[in-house]
Amino acid sequence: MKRLAILISGRGSNMAALIESARAGEIDAAIGIVISNRPEAAGLKIAAAAGVATAIVDHRSFADRGEFERSLIAAIDGAAPDLIVLAGFMRILSPAFVARYTGRLLNIHPSLLPAYPGVDTHRRALADGVRIHGCTVHFVTADVDCGPIVAQGAVAVADGDDEATLAARVLAVEHRLLVRAVRLFCADRLTIAGARVRIRGETAEPGVLEAPSDKATNSAPP
Ligand code: GRF
Repeated sequence: MKRLAILISGRGSNMAALIESARAGEIDAAIGIVISNRPEAAGLKIAAAAGVATAIVDHRSFADRGEFERSLIAAIDGAAPDLIVLAGFMRILSPAFVARYTGRLLNIHPSLLPAYPGVDTHRRALADGVRIHGCTVHFVTADVDCGPIVAQGAVAVADGDDEATLAARVLAVEHRLLVRAVRLFCADRLTIAGARVRIRGETAEPGVLEAPSDKATNSAPP
């Protein structure tokens, strides 16, 4: 069984999806710790209520990023995780930090990368009038919102969408996609090959690509 550390900054719904899937035995993992850089993050209460250890490493209480990251590393390494998941963690991490966890640091990002790295992804997608939007789970590299892609999920953009409705539809896909990606990691099925991720037995693994049909704009879970 793999050990996970989950890093959050806020609501923690992706974290909650992972905790629930571990509890249900859908992923072969134990959540060693949930760490937030914000003391007020709602996800901390969800984790504690689920009996998961939590820690706060408040970036505002350190003189610089180096000090913050040293403290973050201490909290992570104290839990001895096999995998670190950035689940709505809103701090940019230095190349040295990323290098320390190469190949075992996953991020969920609310766009179909490489489109819309950074923030305000849903607003930017709507402003551009794209017909398709979504989310990506990828291994983290030194460049922000880059790195080998494990899984992507798409949603159709509906005529009546605003930022909130589009974000909600993407978020539902995020939860499924992140659990699938972590499940594959925990089963030792992911290999990074240059810029790409190979998935052992991929044909037998539905779900690393999720797309709406052109008939149904609001894809429901299967
Ligand atoms: C998600 O959309 C995630 O992709 C983005 O921030 C949001 C976090 O949501 N990076 P939650 O905290 O998991 O509910």
